[in-house]
Amino acid sequence: MRVLFAAAEMTPIAKVGGLADVVGALPIALQRAGVDVRIILPRYEQIDLGKLQANEQGPLNVTVGEGPVVIRVWEGTFPGAQVPLILLEHGGYLSRGPIYFEEGTPEALWAEMRRFLVFQLAVSAYVQRRRWTPDILHCHDWQASLLPLLTRGRVKTLLTIHNLAMPGLWNAQEVRQFLCLKDDELPELTGDGQGKLSLLGLGISTADKLNTVSPTYAQEILTPELGLGLEGLLKKRRNDLSGILNGIDGERFNPAQDPAVAPYDADHLDGKQENRVRLLKRFKLLGNGPVFGFVGRLTDQKGSELIVGARQFFAHHDANLVVLGKGNSTYEDEVRALADALPNATAVIGFDATLAQQIYAGSDFFLMPSRFEPCGLGQLIALRYGAVPIVRATGGLKDTVTDIGEAQGTGIVFRDFTPSAFQQALDRAVTLYADRERFRSTVERGMRQVFSWDRSAATYRALYDKLMSAGKGLSPKRRR
Ligand code: GLC
Repeated sequence: MRVLFAAAEMTPIAKVGGLADVVGALPIALQRAGVDVRIILPRYEQIDLGKLQANEQGPLNVTVGEGPVVIRVWEGTFPGAQVPLILLEHGGYLSRGPIYFEEGTPEALWAEMRRFLVFQLAVSAYVQRRRWTPDILHCHDWQASLLPLLTRGRVKTLLTIHNLAMPGLWNAQEVRQFLCLKDDELPELTGDGQGKLSLLGLGISTADKLNTVSPTYAQEILTPELGLGLEGLLKKRRNDLSGILNGIDGERFNPAQDPAVAPYDADHLDGKQENRVRLLKRFKLLGNGPVFGFVGRLTDQKGSELIVGARQFFAHHDANLVVLGKGNSTYEDEVRALADALPNATAVIGFDATLAQQIYAGSDFFLMPSRFEPCGLGQLIALRYGAVPIVRATGGLKDTVTDIGEAQGTGIVFRDFTPSAFQQALDRAVTLYADRERFRSTVERGMRQVFSWDRSAATYRALYDKLMSAGKGLSPKRRR
């Protein structure tokens, strides 16, 4: 079975968020499971072709409203694995600048939109080429959501939704003109009622199968609250929608062999203590009570307002707070102010992969109070590193952390997205921490949890099989 992954990001060569980690790990596990898998993505200028041993193949030609576009095609292999990688290069549309144009100006957003429209036209052209034709095109997020329509009838498609909050919205008329499509060839499927085209909405209605990255999130997006206007379309596709949990790279995230930290495992927790002391020393924190860590984007999704709202808690408890993150500038300022005001809190605004690991290793608790969370990686790393996760009961957080009130609990789970519910969760953490026996067994249990990519890959494989056997003989139109 041949599967082509189409996505905007991939760890380690083009990493922005959690999408990159999935695209950088799942294909390797699928290959182990016997799937002939390849990955296609834009060749951003930051990607070093030399390291990938990439060879140039014949170009692809596509046409957009602005004229013909010739795309250079590179084929290489994934660093450290044997997964073939196809990179599509074009100076103007695909390769120049960062992966996402974060300035947010209309020009930048349009350039980003055009980048992924050209990317998808090129992927479609690649699929049409006869060299290696995939049975299944596995599309990720809005940047690959047009592909089911573009490749309809030629290949089966699976769309994985990593985050419904990023639907890829644009003025439908402009998109049609750019793609040289007629009105009825590109229906307006809008999530906002403003006459805009939602690329993700289009993918949701046209892909053969859909999935999200946790079973709970697959349910939540059927509601107005988290469906964000796409719940109607999603409900129509309910029978084709499933939730498959992401895994975690157990080699990379392993405190016993992570060069950034003093080594330890569930049976030898001394190293964990050492990491805790190092972290406190580095940031000159008081050191008596528990250490609460946060690593992540400072955005609404990640529940940053609850973190900054916990100022009173940290002002009145013998507990330490270490925050590493960046994002929304208001939250950045608020977190900085909190850290300046409290001797037992520190904040590093930015992203630093080594410090991130040291925070996971040095923390007693890990904060992840997300407003919503399709899957989430932070809580999985925290479990591996013995930092007891404190999470809101949403999406993948709910599916991966069991509250200590239940048998075999691994973390603290709270329900309402309110300062008082979060505060109660923090109080429960302090109580748990004081009960040394119980705290230790919670840590150990968490560290022994297994969220392997092999398990996810087996589920994806079963879904691919279903996709291959379903709808045989149906005309492309019927699959709508
Ligand atoms: C998005 C989601 C996150 C998920 C990741 C990978 O970043 O916000 O919850 O873990 O995609 O699927």
